[in-house]
Amino acid sequence: MGLYLRCILVMAVVSALILPRAARSDAPKKAAFDQCAVCHSTDGSNGTGPTLKGVFGRQSGTVAGFRYSRAMRGAGIRWDEKTLDQYLSSPQEFIAGNVMPFSGVDDPTERASIIAYLRALN
Ligand code: HEC
Repeated sequence: MGLYLRCILVMAVVSALILPRAARSDAPKKAAFDQCAVCHSTDGSNGTGPTLKGVFGRQSGTVAGFRYSRAMRGAGIRWDEKTLDQYLSSPQEFIAGNVMPFSGVDDPTERASIIAYLRALN
């Protein structure tokens, strides 16, 4: 093995050892949420979509100051693992007439990552 390759190998091993475990396992969740972050903040401010800070356990359509569609205001859902999973798999099927311009996330693992990320925000 050349010196160059050996250096890369040593660096890979060292970074795997020193990167904190939590940071590594949270990275995919954060990355999966990036597609939502263009519209949804996690800091309490509303954008194109309502903030998702505290969404877990919240009643649908209730963030103050956000103009929801009539469909979302009338949905009467409590956001939890199950309802978020249903909504994110197919927003229009789950709440017909809601105006989130997003077609959904097909991959169940990716949905689970996003939901875990949202849950951790609470
Ligand atoms: C292009 C913008 C956009 C993207 C991308 C987007 N959303 Fe939304 N989202 C909205 C809008 C707008 C609404 C409000 C819909 C309504 O009032 O009918 C909404 C509503 C929601 C709600 C209901 C919130 C509440 O207060 O009841 C949840 C939950 C949600 N989005 C989650 C997500 C997640 C998770 C993602 C990423 C997988 C995502 N959204 C991607 C714009 C977006």
